[in-house]
Amino acid sequence: KVYPDMYSASKAVAQRIAAIIKQKTQKGEKVVLGLATGVTPIGVYNELVRLYREEGLSFKNVVTFNLDEYYPMNPEAPQSYKVFMYKHLFDHVDIDPQNVHIPDGALAQDDIAAFCLDYEQKITAYGGLDLQILGIGRTGHIGFNEPGSAPNSGTRLVTLDELTRGDAAHDFGGKANVPLKAITMGIGTIFKAREIILMAWNAKKAEIIKKAVEGEISSDIPATYLQHSDNVEFVLDIAAASAL
Ligand code: GLP
Repeated sequence: KVYPDMYSASKAVAQRIAAIIKQKTQKGEKVVLGLATGVTPIGVYNELVRLYREEGLSFKNVVTFNLDEYYPMNPEAPQSYKVFMYKHLFDHVDIDPQNVHIPDGALAQDDIAAFCLDYEQKITAYGGLDLQILGIGRTGHIGFNEPGSAPNSGTRLVTLDELTRGDAAHDFGGKANVPLKAITMGIGTIFKAREIILMAWNAKKAEIIKKAVEGEISSDIPATYLQHSDNVEFVLDIAAASAL
C-alpha cells in the first residue's frame, strides 16, 4: 500500500494495531506484538500514544517482543533499543513492564544462546506473534538479519554489516563506536507471525524496496524472503515506492 506521506501511512498501521488490540481484548485474550526500532516506526508509536490518551486504547493485555538489540549494549545507554522503546512508547501507555521483552545487550557471551532459545520459547508460549512490524535497513536486513541470514534462522547473535554500522554512526558519535554485533529475532521467528507489516519512508529506501519487492529471492537481500509469504504487507510512502 502506498500512502501520500509517512504520517498517513503511520496512522494506518497504528489503526491496524489498535484493531487487533481491541479484537483480542474483547475476547479476553492477550495480544502479542512484535515491535521494531529505528526512525521508521516512530510515527506509529506517536499515533498509538495518541490513541491511548485520547481514545482510551489500553495496552493492559498487550505483550511485546522487540526484534533486536545491539550487542554489547548497556540497556540504560541512550542508544539502546530498550531506552528507545520506553521513550517512544512504553513510558506513555498503560503496558505492564513485565509484558515487555527486548533482547538483552548486557548478557555474558556464554549466556546468549540460552537467552535466545528462551526468547523463542516465550513467544511460542504466548501463542505466537499476532503482528510483527518491520523497518528495512539499506542492506535489505529485517531486524538485524543481515545478508547471508537463512530463511529458517532463529533468534541469535549476528555480526552487523559495515553499511548498517555506517548508517548507525550518527547515533553513536562515529562508526567506530557502533557495536559489532547484535541479538536479533531470526527470519524464521519473524515468519511465524500471523501478520507482518514492513514500513519504509523516504527516497533513501526506494532502491532497497525495489529489490525487496521485485528482486530475485536471495539471502543477499533477506527482505526478499518476505515475497514467499502471503500475510505480508509493505506500507510505503510515495518516495519509498518511487522505484517500483
Ligand atoms: C536498524 C534496525 C532495524 C531497522 C533499520 C532501519 O538496523 N535494527 O530493525 O529496520 O535500522 O532503520 P530506520 O527505520 O532508522 O531507517
